[in-house]
Amino acid sequence: MDDTPLVFVSVDNQSVAENFAEWFKTWSNKQSGARITIALSGGSTPKVLFQALAEKYAEDIPWHKIHFFWGDERCVAPTHDDSNYKMTKTLLLDPINFPENQVHRVKGEIDPEVAAEDYERQIRLHLEEKEAWPAFDLIILGMGSDGHTASIFPHQMELLESDRICAVATHPDSGQKRVSLTGKVLNNAHQVCFLVTGDSKKEKIVEIFNEQGQYQAYPAFHIRPVHGALSWHIDKAAAALLK
Ligand code: 6PG
Repeated sequence: MDDTPLVFVSVDNQSVAENFAEWFKTWSNKQSGARITIALSGGSTPKVLFQALAEKYAEDIPWHKIHFFWGDERCVAPTHDDSNYKMTKTLLLDPINFPENQVHRVKGEIDPEVAAEDYERQIRLHLEEKEAWPAFDLIILGMGSDGHTASIFPHQMELLESDRICAVATHPDSGQKRVSLTGKVLNNAHQVCFLVTGDSKKEKIVEIFNEQGQYQAYPAFHIRPVHGALSWHIDKAAAALLK
């Protein structure tokens, strides 16, 4: 099987979001199972996607089958402005009246290790396994300008090989604690989609895509699903250095 990732380049962040939303509508309606498990990314890139889904696709997607998780979460209260859950709730979950019992958040308000154990229990309870690891149907990821993804940062590459489903990570600059899915879970998904936009990502994109420079030092490079499909959804600014 050709494991070359698919790459979709759109004009800007808004068009990446709209094109991905259209892809997501098609993909979600093709899922035959009774439950679709999805881990969402945080940060700023997905905000436009969540708004597009809420405003234009509220009636077109089988939300009743979907269970939302996050690829990572900041260890803050769910009402805190840093919370990926709060951002998603505001921009997507509340506008579409998404069922609360299908939302599985990291309890950022409690001790990080306890939150990681709780999140692992939620994942084991709701996900099918593939080769003894939980297998998300879809994981949406972002990438930082340092090449991190989820909350696996370059200074914690060991999280790519961790034997845990999720683990406590630390932001290299702020020291903020995060709970992140680990590399083996990310690479066990049936479908992984990176959404990466903006000029600040262009160096890492060209190094990762061309396997040049320090590409092996970037966690995002190491996300290549073992059995699943990988696609990158980027804008022209992030693709600026690609030939
Ligand atoms: C987070 C994200 C993180 C994010 C990247 C890119 O919690 O911050 O999950 O992995 O996807 O940092 O962030 P931007 O989309 O803001 O560039």
